[in-house]
Amino acid sequence: MATVLAIETSCDETAVAIVNNRQVCSSIVASQISVHQLYGGVVPEVASREHLATINEAIAKALQKAELDWEKIDGIAATCAPGLVGALLVGITAAKTLAMVHNKPFLGVHHLEGHIYATYLSEPSLNPPFLSLLVSGGHTSLIYVKDCGIYETLGETRDDAAGEAFDKVARLLKLGYPGGPVIDKLAQVGNPQAFPLPEGKVSLPGGGYHRYDASFSGLKTAVLRLVQQLEKDNQQVPVADVAASFQETVARSLTKRAIACALDYGLDTISVGGGVAANSGLRKNLQAAAAEHNLRVLFPPLKFCTDNAAMIGCAAAEHLSRGHKSPLTLGVESRLALTQVMKLYQFI
Ligand code: KG4
Ligand code: ZN
Repeated sequence: MATVLAIETSCDETAVAIVNNRQVCSSIVASQISVHQLYGGVVPEVASREHLATINEAIAKALQKAELDWEKIDGIAATCAPGLVGALLVGITAAKTLAMVHNKPFLGVHHLEGHIYATYLSEPSLNPPFLSLLVSGGHTSLIYVKDCGIYETLGETRDDAAGEAFDKVARLLKLGYPGGPVIDKLAQVGNPQAFPLPEGKVSLPGGGYHRYDASFSGLKTAVLRLVQQLEKDNQQVPVADVAASFQETVARSLTKRAIACALDYGLDTISVGGGVAANSGLRKNLQAAAAEHNLRVLFPPLKFCTDNAAMIGCAAAEHLSRGHKSPLTLGVESRLALTQVMKLYQFI
């Protein structure tokens, strides 16, 4: 049993949470979206400065909401990779400072391990092995979860991440940033069969297609061509139909690959994590296909799909209870494979 104060600043949310094992005591998320919307995407330097301005207040609020003082906290954690280097530095420096001042162990956490752990917050009895479909703004992977810290990547996108595709398509439809939630909303009133779009198959050198890998950049280009053609023909772009057709294609592609992977590896549970796990089309498609194949599919609550610190605290609490901690010399990394997670820890 471990209670952890966790900080997440890998992108554009300043988040602090206190988690007792798989139970959330408090979770504060200060979103910077309105600042970055002016630029149509996240500006790294601006993100770092916003984190600096917000972090102390977020820490104070998390402690206040959990009604806990430092004595009850067993460890301090922060996301250390992957993410925006300047943004990560703010969170990790705050966490290391608190660890030193209060004489607590410090834990650096891999952001994607956090997204895997988000499911435990609503399914505390879930335990590996299971398949994790990670779909965020920066990553799209199928991960064989073997144990805490032990992961194997079975499939991934060859180019754009699923969330990135949503954001790029939203931009070309002039829907603003971030694209996922607005496309999701529009798709509910559009016709998903209106436009056939390519699913993003990855060819194998010997012929045929990869069963688990996907490619979303061709899909994004297909949407661009479709919009350009409609404009050339002086037709009004039926934005809701384009959004619905795009969302349906992404959902179908992810569902097909996740189901094939779970069946091939004999895994009966698929857990979904990352911002795109909030997508209603993906939820519907995957739930229907999983039921057909007698597989269990688990999604975190909506608020824990997108970036938050509760998922980071949940991962850190498990590492800490297994005697793992990070050296105070640990730095941040813009990229780090999930298979390298155990390099972040030494045994207490
Ligand atoms: O996990 P996340 O908050 O940050 C990263 O680790 O990248 O994911 C953010 C991504 C963005 O690309 C956003 O457009 C997408 O998740 N997203 C969604 C939805 N909500 C957020 N995509 C599709 N449908 C949604 N409802
Ligand atoms: Zn994320």
